[in-house]
Amino acid sequence: MPKAKVFATRPLFPAAQQILNASCEVEYWTQAERISKEELLRRVKEKDGLVCLLTEKVNDELLRAAPKLRIAANVAVGFDNIDLPACTKRGVVATNTPGVLDETTADFAWTLMMAVARRIGEGEALARSGAWKGWDLDQLVGADVWGKTLGVVGFGRIGRAMARRALGFQMKVLYTDAIRAPLDIENEAKAEYRDLNSLLADSDFVSLHVPLTGDTRGLFDVAKLSKMKPTAFLINTSRGPVVDEAALVYALESKKLAGAALDVYEQEPFIHAGLKRPNVVLAPHIASASLETRTKMAVIAAENVVTFFKGKKPANMLNPEAWKGI
Ligand code: DGY
Repeated sequence: MPKAKVFATRPLFPAAQQILNASCEVEYWTQAERISKEELLRRVKEKDGLVCLLTEKVNDELLRAAPKLRIAANVAVGFDNIDLPACTKRGVVATNTPGVLDETTADFAWTLMMAVARRIGEGEALARSGAWKGWDLDQLVGADVWGKTLGVVGFGRIGRAMARRALGFQMKVLYTDAIRAPLDIENEAKAEYRDLNSLLADSDFVSLHVPLTGDTRGLFDVAKLSKMKPTAFLINTSRGPVVDEAALVYALESKKLAGAALDVYEQEPFIHAGLKRPNVVLAPHIASASLETRTKMAVIAAENVVTFFKGKKPANMLNPEAWKGI
């Protein structure tokens, strides 16, 4: 039987290449520049499988250009770049990489929270500038994290990992989610369930861990942001469009919010000019970017593809109804 033809939009990591190359005929996009949409549409034409990133859209246009495509394996847990109904309609299985990036992402959300509270960006700039005149009593005074109240919006795996870390900082943890967590999970994280408005009113730090859906797009608008304390900080490592950036800029400018720390943006890689202010910590969507975790993500995507072409169900199908075997 001929090997399945697969296109990968990045070289991935050696461990993932090894898995893919062993059973598929794989073409990798190896140029430093990311692949353009036009080039991607050309490359997928004769392919049976695709390994893609969250920056590539798997939509009707791509599926039309790839009539032989059977599987699209996203190297990410979020899959808002994939039009699932369109995939299902064409019998294309889509997969993601859940479970391996939770702790790494929570580490980074925590890093952002500490950084904005303790003014790391400003402090580092001062230390490097040569303008630092030495210790001073009121120099770069920030906000304590320990003992404060953390509000976790979205209490899935990453939100829970974020909450667990708060125990070591003697924080009170509030959370909200469409579905209340089982009691043992609440008890483990000592987390208290609240509706969103009550969480916003009582939290010193609000950390977002929701997927991007019709319900969460623009969720943090002027009205929601105005429910937060003026001394509070917003942390976003989920998806940029969950926050209305213009509303966030307004809240920061009008001092309705103490600061924000962001890893994700409405229109990446564009960052709203109004966010480039001292009380906002900006990161370029790297919350899961440890070598260990990114390697695991690529390996899972590779395994999903290889499993599929062995005629078995991949572990992480987003639209199992599209699976008909091979
Ligand atoms: C994801 O996986 O969805 C993150 O945004 C990148 O790790």
